[in-house]
Amino acid sequence: MGILISPSVLNSDLSDLAGEVGRISAADFVHLDVMDNHFVPNLTFGLPVVERLLARTELPADVHLMIEDPDTWAPAFAEAGAKSVTFHVEASSAPVRLARELRKRGARAAIALKPGTGIEPYLDLLPEFDMVLVMTVEPGFGGQSFIEGTLPKIRRTRDAITALGADIWVQVDGGVSRTTIGTAAQAGANMFVAGSAVYSADDPNAEISALRELAEA
Ligand code: DX5
Ligand code: ZN
Repeated sequence: MGILISPSVLNSDLSDLAGEVGRISAADFVHLDVMDNHFVPNLTFGLPVVERLLARTELPADVHLMIEDPDTWAPAFAEAGAKSVTFHVEASSAPVRLARELRKRGARAAIALKPGTGIEPYLDLLPEFDMVLVMTVEPGFGGQSFIEGTLPKIRRTRDAITALGADIWVQVDGGVSRTTIGTAAQAGANMFVAGSAVYSADDPNAEISALRELAEA
């Protein structure tokens, strides 16, 4: 199971999105936070911006939908060419059906869990998904502190995946930095979203390499 680093552009200069994505060539994915001001109290960008951005970057897109009614809106992001589409289970009325729709359109299908949402109801459904995103902050804003209390959920998720013998990724998002990435990796995460850690660094690519080394240690 490889270590993957997916920087979030949320706290970058969003008026120059393509330029900011061009600064993270050492990344494995670019993490795009789509927010609708309803599911979370913040608003970013939607499908038209993601579509245009995809035409201007080689990096695969890891789209994190923090929106209401992903059942309606998520498939279009897969159709636009996002390599991975993550939706919140709290917002979906039919997670398995939606995941199948995403896979049918060629994307990896992923569910996200807020810090207060348990993985237990979804354990039997794991083979339907390519990734589980365990949020390590309340979704909505960059620059928050990593919630240590999510570590047991990361562990339980990884253990269930190992027991299945399935190749399902475990992503963490929120407060991931040089200080926290090691514990998240030890708990079983293999894909790491880092927003402020990467974009506040003088050299984003050097920061990505440093994070990767710490996760691999
Ligand atoms: C928060 C977003 C994150 C955010 C992470 O709701 O989902 O992707 O950009 O930012 P940092 O790494 O600064 O916590
Ligand atoms: Zn995110």
